[in-house]
Amino acid sequence: MNVLIVFDHPRRDGFCGAVLDSFVQGLQAAGRRTEIADLRAEGFDPRLDPEDEPDWNDPRKVYSPAVLAEQARIARNDALAFVFPVWWWSLPATTKGWIDRVWNHGWAYGDRKLPHRKALFLGVAASDADHYPKRGYDSAMQTQLVTGITQYCGIADSRQELLHGALGDEGDRLALLKRAQDLGHSF
Ligand SMILES: Cc1cc2nc3c(=O)[nH]c(=O)nc-3n(C[C@H](O)[C@H](O)[C@H](O)COP(=O)(O)O)c2cc1C
Repeated sequence: MNVLIVFDHPRRDGFCGAVLDSFVQGLQAAGRRTEIADLRAEGFDPRLDPEDEPDWNDPRKVYSPAVLAEQARIARNDALAFVFPVWWWSLPATTKGWIDRVWNHGWAYGDRKLPHRKALFLGVAASDADHYPKRGYDSAMQTQLVTGITQYCGIADSRQELLHGALGDEGDRLALLKRAQDLGHSF
């Protein structure tokens, strides 16, 4: 299985980058081939301009070269994972814009869906695990990301995992990196 991992953080060398590395190590140890889309380092523009707006009357609209390149990168992989810091109980804006632009009408939803075998949203969160259900943030994210995006676009085997306590001490962080590695291994 070939896995595209979409990474979104202003710094590749921070804790979220270490989570990415651990997740990839787990995937590779299990024999998966990996490809990383580092959206910030690559300078991906998340704004949806008119050339990438859906034409509801033309599901075969040809989108911009930047979007076609991203769609080709998605299409050459069998599974997708997102590694991101939780920002305001959601995805960072660049990943949101990547989905807005690239997962477009007639390609990811509408008369065509994505054929991928599975998807994972792996979010890195500062708040503790018990803080999330208290206000329904975990189920809100699950509905928005898993039900509303990946499953809506045809990837039935989709789920969300949150690594809580990312601002904790060295021991806490090492445990989160081990969890990320295990999630990669079992993906
Ligand atoms: C703009 C912004 C919004 C954030 N919102 C949340 C949030 O809603 N829930 C949460 O648990 N952590 C939140 N955080 C904390 C980040 O998830 C945390 O800083 C990150 O996962 C740890 O990596 P970093 O500090 O290297 O970025 C937020 C951080 C920033 C910068």
